[in-house]
Amino acid sequence: MAINWYPGHMHKAQKEIKDIISDIDLIIEVLDARIPNSSENPMIAQLRGEKPCIKILNKSDLADADTTALWIEHFKSHKNTDALAVTAKTQESLQKIIPRCKDIVVRDVEEGKPMRVLIAGIPNVGKSTIINALAKRIVAKTGNEPAVTKSQQRINIGSGITLFDTPGMLWPKIHSEDSGYRLAVTGAIKETAFELDDVASYLADYLVVSYPEQLKTRYELEELAPSGYEILEDIGRKRGCLRSGGRVEINKAAKILLTELRETVLGRISMETPQMCMAEQLAIDKKL
Ligand code: G4P
Repeated sequence: MAINWYPGHMHKAQKEIKDIISDIDLIIEVLDARIPNSSENPMIAQLRGEKPCIKILNKSDLADADTTALWIEHFKSHKNTDALAVTAKTQESLQKIIPRCKDIVVRDVEEGKPMRVLIAGIPNVGKSTIINALAKRIVAKTGNEPAVTKSQQRINIGSGITLFDTPGMLWPKIHSEDSGYRLAVTGAIKETAFELDDVASYLADYLVVSYPEQLKTRYELEELAPSGYEILEDIGRKRGCLRSGGRVEINKAAKILLTELRETVLGRISMETPQMCMAEQLAIDKKL
């Protein structure tokens, strides 16, 4: 899946993070709880060194709670790394973030210096929604269009914490074709950048293996066809997406499946597990 990640913005983000990272006490990396591996930014891991990091698994209201728990355990097993599942749609879960920062950076708080926290995340993970909630005012633009922060923002969020918003645009870790598909399924990649039927077929293939009952129940399918494309055809027939002559309008069926997944009509679904991603990484490493 070929995607243009706006190299100009990426370069700016990389340069500015490099410039400030030595002054930062803690990094908050916002991830999409449905795809915690694919929504990571590879540069953060590279530039971070030994700095403490909290992986915030946002949109946990859309993800499978059991799988999110596995991801939390997985990230916490890494050095200097904490992890927290939240949903920026409610204030309640976000209230855990500041105390967690203070647990980690005890030194600065004791000395009365403000804690400097860098917040980073690829577009659409909910970074702006979280920043606005922490600041208790609108300081970052939210919405589905990837907004680009033009310059470094320092935001005093009270409680002795200064938040540094990363300028430019951070790109996701598309280290495999699977990651590209998962980013497309969850809406991190704009629909104009991919073929709807291709991505929806991938999703149907995944659901057959990982969430077959949800697929059967939602679309009243007694049997699941052997390929994702055929499942899309079955969904299209069930939903009356038909052209004259009875041919299925596959793009309409694809749109239905993708929309209903994103709106949790099929239930809360995660698109990757730690075990799956570790196996994929091993396969990639073997090829190199
Ligand atoms: P970004 O800065 O990382 O690019 O993301 P942003 O905060 O703009 O959020 C992108 C979209 O994700 C927004 O939806 C936002 O409401 C939604 N979102 C953020 N956090 C959560 C969450 O925890 N759960 C769910 N379900 N959605 C979340 P939008 O449709 O573009 O905007 P709006 O109509 O909600 O305003």
